[in-house]
Amino acid sequence: MMLQDKFGREIDYLRLAVIDRCNLRCTYCMPADGLNWLSKNELMSNEEMLRICRIFTEMGVSKIRITGGEPFLRKGFMPFLNELTQLNGLKNIAITTNGLNTLKNIQELKNLGIKSINLSLDSLDRERFFQITRRDELSKVIDTLDQLIENQFEVKINTVVMDGVNTVDIYPLVELTKNKPVSVRFIEEMPFNDGTHEISLKWNADHIIKHIKSAYPMLDKIENERNSTAMNFNIPGYQGNIGIIAAYTRNFCGSCNRLRLTSVGELRTCLYQSKGINLRDLMRQGNSDQEIKEFIELALIHKPKDGWEAEKQYFSMDETHQSMASIGG
Ligand code: GTP
Ligand code: 5AD
Ligand code: SF4
Repeated sequence: MMLQDKFGREIDYLRLAVIDRCNLRCTYCMPADGLNWLSKNELMSNEEMLRICRIFTEMGVSKIRITGGEPFLRKGFMPFLNELTQLNGLKNIAITTNGLNTLKNIQELKNLGIKSINLSLDSLDRERFFQITRRDELSKVIDTLDQLIENQFEVKINTVVMDGVNTVDIYPLVELTKNKPVSVRFIEEMPFNDGTHEISLKWNADHIIKHIKSAYPMLDKIENERNSTAMNFNIPGYQGNIGIIAAYTRNFCGSCNRLRLTSVGELRTCLYQSKGINLRDLMRQGNSDQEIKEFIELALIHKPKDGWEAEKQYFSMDETHQSMASIGG
């Protein structure tokens, strides 16, 4: 089976937020006090997550990216991953993490055949890392990065670019690609921060590219992977790549192949959609697989053409923008 929306986009990628909790407090994501954390019963159980993932794979999903919050904080996360890898039809399982609790699991992740890890890292400077994440944990993240590379994971670094905060980190992060086979992606900040933190649009994708080109005129554009959110570049002779993700200005919606499940099991057909049907509740109400598939197909009809339409349709201007940690990024 293949899932397709009314614009002909093939949907084969699910982003699953397994928890809302996090051990960092990134200013662009949540307030210093954290969020109003969900209770265990509000999260889907491992069995529910496995069931819904199986249903999605039966409908044509072949890639699942695990997000959060911080996925490794979920109790029983590694056993869940173990079972997830056994699902038929799933070709690619990837994880987005902040890297704090990843190190001790590297060998097991490798044994499970997980190949791709996206690591959040917004500064290479200890002070600025602390200013952004409100935790003094830079050295742990760097350790994780090095170990992941050593163990041949495909690593992408996520850097949210914030005016007046970490734009001085752009060149040092670009330099990371010289000797490390990583992709460093600079991301436009989005307003998903639980409503507490203003964003500036000065550092949009164009501005970031111009800024990098001014120091690296030899910057080469490289072919995009299909359905990639990033525009990718390389500096000749450098091992890694540089990516720019226009997450706020959204220039990639035309090829969007994604669905999302939030940490309470809500299906979001777009990151910028503020509400969706709750598949956890449908499962708890006793719906059959077939019935749940019908709900998913129905929801897909309303997948917006792009994030702008979604924002217009679903956000009222004065609504608090949820945290990325509960949507799952
Ligand atoms: P892969 O292509 O699977 O590597 O995923 P990714 O790079 O899109 O995922 P990741 O979790 O590393 O997210 C990187 C950044 O892209 C984050 O800031 C996400 O919020 C953002 N992002 C991911 N998917 C979307 C999307 O559908 N729309 C928008 N606007 N931003 C997205
Ligand atoms: N804007 C852009 N990216 C964000 N992320 C979290 N919050 C925001 C935001 N407000 C990124 C994190 C993480 C990824 C899943 O989403 O850096 O790497
Ligand atoms: Fe945690 Fe990621 Fe949010 Fe930072 S952006 S607080 S690492 S969930």
